[in-house]
Amino acid sequence: SDPDLVARATAAKAALGDRVFVLGHHYQRDEVIQFADVTGDSFKLAREAAARPQAEFIVFCGVHFMAESADILTSDAQQVVLPDLAAGCSMADMAALPQVENAWDVLTELGLAERTVPVTYMNSSADIKGFVGRNGGVVCTSSNAKRALEWAYQQGEKVLFLPDQHLGRNTAVLEMGFSLDDCVLYDPHKPGGGLTAEQLREAKMILWRGHCSVHGRFTLDSVNDVRQRVPGVTVLVHPECRHEVVRAADLVGSTEYIIRTIEAAPAGSAWAVGTELNLVRRLALAHPDKQIMFLDRAVCYCSTMNRIDLPHLVWALEELVAGRVVNRITVDADTAHHARVALDQMLALPG
Ligand code: 13P
Ligand code: SF4
Repeated sequence: SDPDLVARATAAKAALGDRVFVLGHHYQRDEVIQFADVTGDSFKLAREAAARPQAEFIVFCGVHFMAESADILTSDAQQVVLPDLAAGCSMADMAALPQVENAWDVLTELGLAERTVPVTYMNSSADIKGFVGRNGGVVCTSSNAKRALEWAYQQGEKVLFLPDQHLGRNTAVLEMGFSLDDCVLYDPHKPGGGLTAEQLREAKMILWRGHCSVHGRFTLDSVNDVRQRVPGVTVLVHPECRHEVVRAADLVGSTEYIIRTIEAAPAGSAWAVGTELNLVRRLALAHPDKQIMFLDRAVCYCSTMNRIDLPHLVWALEELVAGRVVNRITVDADTAHHARVALDQMLALPG
């Protein structure tokens, strides 16, 4: 990275000292990750943000929904900054509050809402987390989806899972023993979600039609192709991948699980990893004694994660040094209160 920008970021961080805490998601660029005080997946970063009451400013190198969660979990005196406001998440954008309220109305008219517990993946807007908190549900991440879904299913007899159909289906079918027929896909662009009343009555898991544009790109062909090219390879994927990809893989787990697994792997072993490319490249560089490759032949970063680059980080830090808070992310008090209920429920899940 540009040595001048590196020097400026270093100087700005030093000038701010303990007043600033920089969080970096594992999918961030190397040039940004080098300035993170802590790196993690979305679950770890949410906990880290909540554990830093002394930091006046949390600079979140990640995407918008993560910065919102940090604002919800930190005190009113702390200010959360997202270095580029264009760092959104296409999956989170696939579930808008009016669409989810509409789905809830459909369930209410059928007399099903009171027996349905909503669960939202961390990768959703604060509005959606607020909706879930208001309706007795819970937030989950890819590290605790099974525990969250089991809890929710025990509370009701039906779960509405937002917004990632793949994480919902993979968890329900591969970890909880549900059948594919127990799951239905609710399409927010169709009246009634494109489902009949009978389908909604019968379903145990109502999966929202959302997906991650990065993990959704891996296909069964990617898995078959790498197995042919690299005999003995172990295929390790994130649960945001499609169901047939996860089924064909050897191992599945959250970003933190992927990192732990690679770290523990023996020298000489070969791994095809189905997750974001910045992370896979860093893992390959950190473990030259292992053969670590990207599951797809095509290059594929998360374009919105990549919006946070060193120029934006330097700008945000230097503005803080100058006494100006730019790109502050705030969640209104009412939404934050209810979202916090759903986040606290996640943090209190047993196990
Ligand atoms: P985790 O950080 O929970 O592994 O989620 C992956 C992801 O897509 C984050 O945007
Ligand atoms: Fe959203 Fe997928 Fe990018 Fe994560 S990797 S921020 S889920 S688009």
